[in-house]
Parts: sequence; C-alpha cells; structure tokens
Amino acid sequence: MPRFEPVLLKRIDKPNSAALAGYRADGGYTALKKALAMAPDDVTNLVKDSGLRGRGGAGFSAGAKWSFLPKNHPGPIYLCVNADESEPGTFNNRILMEQDPHQLLEGIAIACHAIRSNAAYIYLRYEYGRSYRVLDAAIKECYAAGLLGENILGTGFKLDVRLHRGAGAYICGEETGLIESLEGKRAWPRIKPPYPAIEGLFRKPTIVNNVETLCCVTHILTRGVEWFKSMGVPPDPNNKRDQGSYGPKLYCISGHVNKPCCVELPLGVMARELIDVHGGGVWKGRKAKAVVPGGISMGFLSANELDTKLDFEGPGKVGCLGLGTAAVVVIDDQTSMVDVLYNCCRFMSHESCGQCTPCREGTAWMTKILERIRTGRGKLEDIDLLYEVANSMGIIPGTTICGLADGAAWPVKNAVTKFRGEFEEYIRSGRSSITPAQQLMAAH
Ligand SMILES: Cc1cc2nc3c(=O)[nH]c(=O)nc-3n(C[C@H](O)[C@H](O)[C@H](O)COP(=O)(O)O)c2cc1C
Ligand code: SF4
Repeated sequence: MPRFEPVLLKRIDKPNSAALAGYRADGGYTALKKALAMAPDDVTNLVKDSGLRGRGGAGFSAGAKWSFLPKNHPGPIYLCVNADESEPGTFNNRILMEQDPHQLLEGIAIACHAIRSNAAYIYLRYEYGRSYRVLDAAIKECYAAGLLGENILGTGFKLDVRLHRGAGAYICGEETGLIESLEGKRAWPRIKPPYPAIEGLFRKPTIVNNVETLCCVTHILTRGVEWFKSMGVPPDPNNKRDQGSYGPKLYCISGHVNKPCCVELPLGVMARELIDVHGGGVWKGRKAKAVVPGGISMGFLSANELDTKLDFEGPGKVGCLGLGTAAVVVIDDQTSMVDVLYNCCRFMSHESCGQCTPCREGTAWMTKILERIRTGRGKLEDIDLLYEVANSMGIIPGTTICGLADGAAWPVKNAVTKFRGEFEEYIRSGRSSITPAQQLMAAH
C-alpha cells in the first residue's frame, strides 16, 4: 500500500502559510480554475462520485446534499460554511482556518460554483479571534486578486464571501440554529422538513457544509475521485446502508495523553493507534479507562473497544452514536466516570436551547441525578432512572427537534451500560467527589 501523504495539513508548517502568494506558489487556486471550466452539475457529480461525506458530524454525502437543491431555481442560493466548531475536544477546523485559509476559500468558491451560489457566509465560532483575523485578511487578499467578487478568473463567475462571528453557543453549530442566528435571531433549530436545501437562509435554498468538508473538495478537484477513494474503508457488502468512509480525515487527540495533537490520516484508523502512536500514549504511565470517539456527544468506547475503526460505521458497531467530529478524548483509569458524565450532562444542559421539553428537562434532570450521586446521596435506582431519561430524548426516539438531545443521551446510555459496576460501587460507597464547601452549596 502506498505511503499516506497528508494533503489537508500539508502546508500548515510553512512560514506564512496563510498568505495568498505562498498558496498560489504551491499550486493554489488551480482547482478552482479547473472547476470553473466545468458545468456546475459535473462538479456536483464529481464530489458525489468521490464518496465525500460531511466532516461536521452527521457524515451525510456532500454531493448528494448539493444535488437536493431545487433545479432551475432563480436564486439566490446560499452556502453557509459551518465554522462554529463547539463540540468539546474538536479543534481541526481552527487549524485549517488559521494555518491555511485559502485552502478553505478555494473549496468555498468551488462549492458555490457547483451549487450556483453567488453568496457564501462563513459562520465562525465567536471565541476564534485568531481565525477571524486570518480569514478576514485572506478574504481581502482574494478580492484584491480577483479571486472573489465580480468576474472571477475572467470566467464571469461572481461570488461574495462574508465572515460572520457566531453567537457563542454550542447550538449555533446545528445547521438550522446557525441559519436562524445568521438571520439575527436566537439560534433555535428549525423543525425539518423543510431541509435547508429547500428552504434555508432567508427562506432560500441553502447548503450548510463544514470547513473540513469544503477543504476536501479542493483536493478532489485537483487529485480526482480515484485518489480520494484510494483511502479509507469501502462499504460493507452486508450492510446496504453503508456508503463507505473515503478520504483523509483530521483526528483530534486530547485528554489524558502525553501529546495532544491533530493528525491527518486515512479514515478508519483504530482508536488505539491514535492514542499510542500519535498521542504519545496515555499520560503518567496510566491506562485508558474510556475514550470519546468523536466529541462527547458520541458516547464512550471502553478500554476493550480501542481496536474499533474510527470510520463512519465503526463507533456505531460498539454502541456509540457515530464518528461525530473524530475528536478523540482519552480518560485515564484514575478518573471517575461519575465525574466525567456529570461534566458532559452539565454542558449539554447548559447548551440546550430549551425548545423541546425532553431535551430541556431531561438534560437538567440527568445533571441533577448525577450531582446527587457525586455528592454521596445517590441511590442504586438512579442508574436505571438515568438510562430511562436518556432513552426518551432525541431525534432517534423522535421526541426532539435537533440532535443535541441525542448527543446528550448517548454518553449517559454508554456510561451506565459500559461502566455500570463503577456507578454501583460509587453509590454503595456513599463517597463524595466534591469538597465539603461545594457539598454545602450543592445541598442548597
Ligand atoms: C448540537 C449540534 C451542534 C453542531 N455543531 C456543529 C459544528 O460546530 N460544526 C459543524 O460543522 N457541524 C455541526 N453540527 C452538524 C450540523 O448540523 C451539520 O450537519 C453540518 O454542519 C453539515 O456539514 P457537513 O455535511 O459538511 O458535515 C452540529 C449538530 C448539532 C446537532
Ligand atoms: S433538542 Fe434541545 S437543543 Fe435541539 S431544539 Fe430541542 S431543546 Fe433545542
């Protein structure tokens, strides 16, 4: 098998990697030139044939999504670039935006040509100040060089890109919450259908894609479908719903490892390899107790599930929600899963937008139950109660508008199933993992 050659992170260590001159010297914007010489539908079909699946969490086929736009629509059609990146443990979009912004801008321009859009909005996580400054400068460079604005590269194609700073909430990353926020409203996700491709930003057809997805598009144009499909995991012939997991992927590794990092590898690497080879092993000579496979909303792998392939299908085979953002967070064997789960639930409860009762109430109740367990006041029945609450919320059981609730439920379901013994032991011991002062506050 040929040695894997990173493409998405290839330029990040170059001096001044964010500058247009260097990007062009490395062959930048030739993919756009190639795309502009093709019919929009041919670009869409190329992306569809590559098998590129969205890198933002849901793993939906990018080309298929683009092809859902209404045919012969008079416009406007919008592209929203999802750069909200708020899933805990996830920082790959930030690296792409800060170190190689033109790779993203080229992907945006190609995507806009394919979907017949003349306006793209980059919805950027508010806290990413450096990304904002770097992207802002790169966009200005593009306008000055005729790569954005009117008559791009002399082809008659027109595109405006606007950079919008987010509203500082996790729910702004959900695609319809993002659209509401861009429209100047509170980021309350919309009931779907209609999906954004039919009715999105300003009620017009809209495509929402993640930063990494759009960066992949640039390389599919330059290197081709065969190259993209030469990496990753083909579909399982026994699973008709498996579309395969092709192409390169950025994996973030953090938590209790010696070397937190972001690495680019073909889709389908094992969690164990990420931790031991790329993350430098579990810190302090300890062992991994649990591993988050793709942001906390995906749930947990237990220590004996570390040989799970991190492709779009792998985590689901061991009871996790999916690959998510491929952000691996390692939890060592000295850490209490009760505390870990409490933190997950507290985050989700804080970030729930509150529209759906099962999510608003469920996330709050799960946090309260875990608080009770953590403070030594838990009962054994609490474990089943936690599971029952978690099992009743989310798009999957059909009780909520968006997937935040599923992402809140999965860590709970996984933790109480895979680490039940630890929860029982904790409750039986009656111990508390908080200080007496915190305990006093928790009681009130
Ligand atoms: C609560 C919640 C938060 C999300 N946050 C993000 C995010 O920060 N970035 C992102 O790209 N997708 C996020 N998503 C997924 C988006 O809704 C959407 O699927 C994605 O942007 C589509 O892009 P893709 O097809 O290129 O992956 C989130 C979903 C949910 C339910
Ligand atoms: S599931 Fe939760 S976050 Fe999503 S819309 Fe409903 S209340 Fe809001």
